[in-house]
Amino acid sequence: MSRDEFIELRVADVIAETDDANSILFEVPQQHQPLFAFKAGQHLTLKAEIDGEEIRRNYSLCVAPHEGVWKVTVKRIEGGVFSNWVGDELKPGDSLEVMPPHGSFTAQFDAKAGARQYVAFAGGSGITPVMSLIRTALISEPESRFSLFYGNRDSNSIIFLDQLSDLKDRYMGRFELYHFLSGEAGEVDLFNGMLTRETCDMILDTFVQDPKAVEGYFICGPGPMMDAAETALLDKGVDKPRIHIERFTAGTPSAAASKRVAKLKEDASGTTLWVTLDGRARKVAFDGDNILDSAREAGLPAPFACKAGVCATCRAKVLEGEVEMGARYGLTDEEIEAGYILTCQSVPKGDGVKVDYDA
Ligand code: FES
Repeated sequence: MSRDEFIELRVADVIAETDDANSILFEVPQQHQPLFAFKAGQHLTLKAEIDGEEIRRNYSLCVAPHEGVWKVTVKRIEGGVFSNWVGDELKPGDSLEVMPPHGSFTAQFDAKAGARQYVAFAGGSGITPVMSLIRTALISEPESRFSLFYGNRDSNSIIFLDQLSDLKDRYMGRFELYHFLSGEAGEVDLFNGMLTRETCDMILDTFVQDPKAVEGYFICGPGPMMDAAETALLDKGVDKPRIHIERFTAGTPSAAASKRVAKLKEDASGTTLWVTLDGRARKVAFDGDNILDSAREAGLPAPFACKAGVCATCRAKVLEGEVEMGARYGLTDEEIEAGYILTCQSVPKGDGVKVDYDA
């Protein structure tokens, strides 16, 4: 099967989680279940035709692998074509095109590892993959602890409010939950306001105590919150590989970066490259924009979703030659080191570059 192949799945239910967030529960037929096996924190790419236009979006699974269900949560975005279509139109019994799970916002949980500590900073719908990780960590590592610091506007906008408090009851002493609300004043001043850099520092000093001893940090939410949490951790001396970050959207590149990428594209026009996909290598002319579009233009079904350097669906490995990459949020430092690129963000430097989607 091609990595770009979407499988049509039936929607078993559409569940309103809050006024503006809906979960889609999928029915995965027995024969596709091995293909849809996933790791905690991974996401699905969904595809639908809305008003005559093909739209692809990634949404994180909010369930744990052992639960045997496939559920993603979609928060409405103002003017968002897909998220509002899900909220207004999608109903049980409909079908959606779904690409098998992928993504690297995950960790290797190990029942034999003893007592470990995990910490997550989540904001708004960033709770979705974190929910999957919390459920998985608590069940697969019976001695480990998980602390969640979760920022929202007000209590009505908290996705999974009840499920989180159920988890707190069920795993008393092992799961700690702290809500931070920016638009609703509670009794404890400490928990009023957003997860800013100052708040993250306070959290690490007060609730985590020994940040370097934590096995894994998971950060997912609005950009400024993620930057605040990440820099606070790095300044405490936490090793980078312990910090896992999942971005839903890309930031706007600086004018200087955009200018540089434009120049690279200009220089690369007229070059050709070799692209391997599903075991077949093809010579492809660079289309002047990026390697992904060049491959698709040449008829290769190269996989993609966000086209913004975030989801890593378009990941491939450079086997020969040099490539320049713009946004690289979707890759870890280890993957970049190993030669992986996001083809939607990459431009060949010179002729004869070889990239492999199967690697
Ligand atoms: S398609 Fe999402 S990173 Fe390239």
